[in-house]
Amino acid sequence: MLNEKLDQYLREDYYPFHMPGSKRTNILREDIPYKRDLTEINGFDNLNDPKDIFCQMEEKIADIYQVEDAIISTNGSTCGILSTIRALTYENKNILIQRSSHKSVYNAIELNNLKSDYINVIIDNMGAIIDIDYKDLEEKLSNKDYAAIVITSPSYEGYYLDLGKIYDIAKIYSTPLIVDMAHGSHSILTDKYYNDFDIAITSFHKNLSALTPSSGVLINNKDYSKEIRRNMAIFQTSSPSYVILQSIDEMIDKFPEFYHKYSDLEKNLDAIYELNLDHLEIVHDNKKDRSKILVSTANTDIDGFILEEMLRDRKIEIEMSYPTYALLIASIFDSKIGFDRLQDALMDIDKRIKKSTNNFYFSYKIPEKSLEISETIVKGKSTVNIGDSAGKICGQFVYAYPPGIPILSPGEVIDKDIISTMRYMTDHQTKLNIGDTILILD
Ligand SMILES: Cc1ncc(COP(=O)(O)O)c(C=O)c1O
Repeated sequence: MLNEKLDQYLREDYYPFHMPGSKRTNILREDIPYKRDLTEINGFDNLNDPKDIFCQMEEKIADIYQVEDAIISTNGSTCGILSTIRALTYENKNILIQRSSHKSVYNAIELNNLKSDYINVIIDNMGAIIDIDYKDLEEKLSNKDYAAIVITSPSYEGYYLDLGKIYDIAKIYSTPLIVDMAHGSHSILTDKYYNDFDIAITSFHKNLSALTPSSGVLINNKDYSKEIRRNMAIFQTSSPSYVILQSIDEMIDKFPEFYHKYSDLEKNLDAIYELNLDHLEIVHDNKKDRSKILVSTANTDIDGFILEEMLRDRKIEIEMSYPTYALLIASIFDSKIGFDRLQDALMDIDKRIKKSTNNFYFSYKIPEKSLEISETIVKGKSTVNIGDSAGKICGQFVYAYPPGIPILSPGEVIDKDIISTMRYMTDHQTKLNIGDTILILD
């Protein structure tokens, strides 16, 4: 579609007296696609008000994900999340979100002056978030009228929620369900994809082939389409990247092949999941995406960070590490050579480490809220040492990045448990966005 049209256009040899300024020159690097970088010139559509080729691409995406409508984002799932939450919260300002939501959800709460309540999450013995508390969800919905529910499925670590169950509950309370599916664009290739949502936002760049940060908003209830689209044009750049759009076009075009490629990936994953390891454990769970290779160090004398370093020494770069595990992301574009290298590295590392108990201390306790996030912006703030912050109201977000899930939000009361969690994380080399000090309200 877009790529063929561009091929044809380039053959016609128009001279570009228009943006972008690189003008398809050949004095710059060949491996950066200047030659295919263009803008809304005659005959090419406008993503922020699509009428032609981008409508066709969006229709194909909607077909692939079996939804009513789709909107392309060249600004990540972040832009889709901001736009969707804004579109649904003009009047009712109450929103119910999974506590472990990504910071873009919290940013939407700040931008739209929302009043947030949180759904409790359930963690496993490594501290990974594996589910939500369904009872808590029902209780909260029965006590308040919310503009929307926002949940994350699958999680960064690959755990899927029971979307069917959540959607049924959401319908009982006539509350729209928004699913942050940023980490699940590839789930359509597996048996784990269900379109039980009103709106889902997914990052094609995270697990499929489209360039960073290609994403899409998937809509099952067309009543929301118009306002979400209008908001996308507000939050998205007015110069959407045509290079990114070409990569989305290529992804759509090649999608039929992706199903076969997923079978090949399964074979490579089987070899990893069947490894005979004495100390490390490759976490297997029926509710989990197998392409998120979660290696537990909980029963070993090393933590996830040491495992990350040991893998790096063996020329393997991973996605992230935590005190009790390391996360590796596989995709349909991985090679057998890469998997063989990983297999050898894990076997070798496993032989060099010992059995031990690597207890974690990490609390996902939801702090007491004193003020809404947006109310804290205008308040005076000062900086104190973390150790002196107990009992104070937090003036900023505190999170580890990745994954960008807040431990504390502005307006929440800092207590001893939260301080211990922050200390535990920094002592275990988890990169928090703060150093030894924290902003508190005066
Ligand atoms: C759960 C979750 N939601 C949303 C996002 C934002 O996605 P994007 O990078 O496509 O903007 C991320 C990014 O890592 C994420 O982890």
